[in-house]
Amino acid sequence: MDSAASVLEQLSLTERNSGAYAGHEWLPAQQHFASINPADGRVIGWAGRCTRGQYELVLGCAAKTFHAWRAIPAPHRGEMVRLVVEALRRHKSTLGTLIALETGKIKQEADGEVQEMIDIGDFAVGQSRMLYGRSMHSERPFHRMYEQWHPLGIVGVITAFNFPAAVWAWNAFIAAVCGDVVVWKPSPKAPLTAIAIQHLVNGALCQTGHDGVFSLCIGDSPELAQWLVEDARVALVSFTGSSRVGRHVAQVVAARMGRCLLECSGNNAVIIDQTANLDLAVPAIVFGAVGTAGQRCTTTRRLIVHESRIDEVERRFIGAYRQVRIGDPLDPGTLMGPLIDEDARASFRETIAELERLGGRVLVGGQTLDRPGFFVEPTLARAENHWAVVQRETFAPVLYVMPFTTVEEAIALNNAVPQGLSSALFTDRLERAEQFLSVSGSDCGIANVNIGTSGAEVGGAFGGEKETGGGREAGSDAWKAYMRRQTSTINWSRDLPLAQGIQFRLT
Ligand code: UN1
Repeated sequence: MDSAASVLEQLSLTERNSGAYAGHEWLPAQQHFASINPADGRVIGWAGRCTRGQYELVLGCAAKTFHAWRAIPAPHRGEMVRLVVEALRRHKSTLGTLIALETGKIKQEADGEVQEMIDIGDFAVGQSRMLYGRSMHSERPFHRMYEQWHPLGIVGVITAFNFPAAVWAWNAFIAAVCGDVVVWKPSPKAPLTAIAIQHLVNGALCQTGHDGVFSLCIGDSPELAQWLVEDARVALVSFTGSSRVGRHVAQVVAARMGRCLLECSGNNAVIIDQTANLDLAVPAIVFGAVGTAGQRCTTTRRLIVHESRIDEVERRFIGAYRQVRIGDPLDPGTLMGPLIDEDARASFRETIAELERLGGRVLVGGQTLDRPGFFVEPTLARAENHWAVVQRETFAPVLYVMPFTTVEEAIALNNAVPQGLSSALFTDRLERAEQFLSVSGSDCGIANVNIGTSGAEVGGAFGGEKETGGGREAGSDAWKAYMRRQTSTINWSRDLPLAQGIQFRLT
């Protein structure tokens, strides 16, 4: 395994790095802030703070670049994304190690995150030849009617620490093939990953002259995101983060009639019915609840179990949770790393205290670990769905267990939270699976059968309803959010018939 210093070097990072990339150049930083390794609390390196003046340069260059980029044929734009994807393939393991160092997720999951970037990049390359518009039959003779999709402009991408690379790629690669330019504001908790990715992009694209399509501004105070959100030059703001901040972003962007794509909190449940195969359900749910230390927006947070199986299920989960090896994310034997920072650990502690005050019972876990870094135990607890603590998303590995009697009751519990991202049912009964997926089933953007709530593939549209924000990113037709639609009708006759049969004669 490479040392941290060698990983930084291989990714063109130095100890102190610029926090702004505009057009074709890095802007020198006046001030820096530290990126901390959550596994030991030590500084990994430093990122520059983008000033207001630098932000203006980034936006000015992006606006200029857009005018040229939008005229490049989409398949050529796809070719540029392909070059970036090749660089990612070459650096997959190194970038994965940096993600593990900076976020504390285990190396397996961090490498998986880079693979997710590669997957969406490949998808975007194909998509660049499939930005299809429809043609319609006009009601008027010798008229042609069709729609086409044009680039939007500057897309501002605000990402969270938990997927510091893949979520940018979902947005950036699709936006780029659509003819948009991208300004990235990454989480201040994972700035080095963003800087490393910008270096990879620059290396792949500098010969082509298109490196200005992707730019970067980094800061550790909320004002930088606020500039981006308020900025009328930013046609689309794609935001990933909490519902609380997402609501603010939505309001500010709506006030200027800009577009917003929101990917906010989840509160995802798995239902285990009488017939569920626990050999599938247990590993899927443990991965869903404990993976990324419970800090995915798709993390399994609620386990809704048929009353006839609750003792068996609890016994198996207690056994499984005791086997989860906690420790250094880079150690191949580790299954769960630390939380991102001390604030996250404090919120874990408060959650457990609130749960116990309400009468909840911790079945396994519940403690923080007394060692350097921000480690906690994966936790399983009996709780009631309506409790405030269960209704909100705590970014930690806490799984609430609750019983149900009828499948209708289980579906009602699944839906009785403010969020609507992901959901799953484990069953061997086709009829129940269909009921869960039907109009009266799960109300979430993602509904799975016999797999967990997390770990979605890029090919589907990713996102959720209610306080999750309604946005859809990645696959399917999510590209449409990054373009503007134009309907055109062409009259190739010598007459001027009006639609709806209206007669309007001037003589
Ligand atoms: C996120 O947590 O913000 O489905 C994204 C998953 C990953 C993406 C998660 N493919 O868990």
